[in-house]
Amino acid sequence: MRGTVYRVCRQLPGRIARTPLTLTLSPAGRGNQTEIAAGVSAHSYGCHLTNRDLMASITIRQLDDDLKKRLKLQAARHGRSMEDEVRTILRDAAAAGGGHAPEPQSPASVRTTQVRTTQVAPKPGTQPAPAQRHILLIIGGGIAAYKSLDLIRRLKERGFALRCILTAAAQQFVTPLSVGALAGEPAFTDLFDPKSEFDAGHIRLARQPELIVVAPATADLMAKMAGGHADDLASAVLLATNRPVLLAPAMNPMMWANRATVRNVQLLIRDGVALVGPNEGEMAERGEWGSGRMAEPLEIVAAVEKHLRTDDKPLAGKRVIVTSGPTHEPIDPVRYIANRSSGKQGHAIAAAAAAAGADVVLVSGPVNVADPSGVTIIRIESAREMFDAVEKALPADCAIFAAAVADWRVAEPGREKIKKAKGATPAFALVENPDILATIAHRKRQRPKLVIGFAAETQNVIDNAKAKLARKGCDWIVANDVSPASGVMGGDRNTVHLVTHAGVESWPQQSKEEVALALVARIASTLVESAEVSEKAK
Ligand SMILES: Cc1cc2nc3c(=O)[nH]c(=O)nc-3n(C[C@H](O)[C@H](O)[C@H](O)COP(=O)(O)O)c2cc1C
Repeated sequence: MRGTVYRVCRQLPGRIARTPLTLTLSPAGRGNQTEIAAGVSAHSYGCHLTNRDLMASITIRQLDDDLKKRLKLQAARHGRSMEDEVRTILRDAAAAGGGHAPEPQSPASVRTTQVRTTQVAPKPGTQPAPAQRHILLIIGGGIAAYKSLDLIRRLKERGFALRCILTAAAQQFVTPLSVGALAGEPAFTDLFDPKSEFDAGHIRLARQPELIVVAPATADLMAKMAGGHADDLASAVLLATNRPVLLAPAMNPMMWANRATVRNVQLLIRDGVALVGPNEGEMAERGEWGSGRMAEPLEIVAAVEKHLRTDDKPLAGKRVIVTSGPTHEPIDPVRYIANRSSGKQGHAIAAAAAAAGADVVLVSGPVNVADPSGVTIIRIESAREMFDAVEKALPADCAIFAAAVADWRVAEPGREKIKKAKGATPAFALVENPDILATIAHRKRQRPKLVIGFAAETQNVIDNAKAKLARKGCDWIVANDVSPASGVMGGDRNTVHLVTHAGVESWPQQSKEEVALALVARIASTLVESAEVSEKAK
């Protein structure tokens, strides 16, 4: 069995960047024991395996059947996936390696280290601390709350920093003491607790983590989220957050299938909340079987890792400003000039940029579309307010001006409601609003690397967009036909032309979400290319 080769396709930074690691794993082969010995030939490349490196995705190929079976059995015994079992073996092997970069060795002199795979937690002091990623775990009041204790362990094993909130009902199932002990810091339970409000505060709890996980997400807690309630710490945090939220629903199959729950879950998904599970299987209640079992802790961990993966987040570390919707320009306190923009395209772009890992500030006019999750929203009404909000949001790597900003405003809006008087039709003088796109594109300081405008045209779409590109000094114009026949204003689909200094690309008709994804992918590749060019120029 010795000599079986596992290829770990993770490309590590530093000296061995772009060198695939070859790890030789072999079963210890004592009686029917299934311990596995790991010969870490990564050392032969001078490789230093840290806990964080080992959390990367692993592809195992050419594994002979017998070893695969043993690995499967061992993984099942430990309640892990096979991938996780290998990760644990590697992590332990790295810990046994001493946490420092060993001298390069020849592959022939590979050291074989026997490790007990049951030992999961890294040995204190043997590994460099992985970069801490913050997760907030909210535990709802369901029977599956006991699994959350295991979930905490699994997340801690992987180096996540955890804060936990228990709802009042959750405390009927698990105690704040055990949750706090496993998480490594006291659990939060009370919205009106002066001490925790002072130390952390519900707003900080809502904003600090990279991800909020709700496990178990009970029917009641999801109904509160869908309804926007905030009458306890968990629901107040969920309402106040701008971070992505991952729910692990858990409930009786009848509760899960109930139309109210179905409605609430649909609403939450539309609002950008992600779900892991529920699974089908036997319920805690005797004889009950169906859909509603909470996903297993390792499935939740996998969903968390997928959410936080940076390799599919090409805009990680980038700041993006998006404007969206119409502006309202007051005529008097009750009347205004507006346009038919729905905000659907701008909001979809903000959501796509956030999903790509960007830190997104969405400056939105009055719209009826849901806030995308994971973005900071600044709500404004008039063009001047939008302009101020955009300036305050600088600096940014990219600014996308998708809002339909009114070109003019009433010079002197009435202070009181203008009364109708027989034979006297009011006349309004209009003045030009600030040109947000042109001003930002012409800034000397803090000009975003990529400034993108939208052109809503009803005729000569491409020619007008080209003229706008030259006039405004921006980098790209996304032009679309908004004539009533196109159905774009307020509709769900869009046909756009990307006008750049290099030429014009006409994209096929797509949903506004698809346009957003394509645009964000293009932005990401352009920002990466420009970063590479400036790196080379240094
Ligand atoms: C023994 C027991 C088990 C329960 N299990 C669940 C469950 O798995 N899922 C669920 O949605 N509600 C369950 N409930 C009902 C919730 O505890 C109840 O709706 C509670 O208000 C939810 O509180 P929360 O919003 O803090 O989660 C259970 C109740 C009891 C008494």
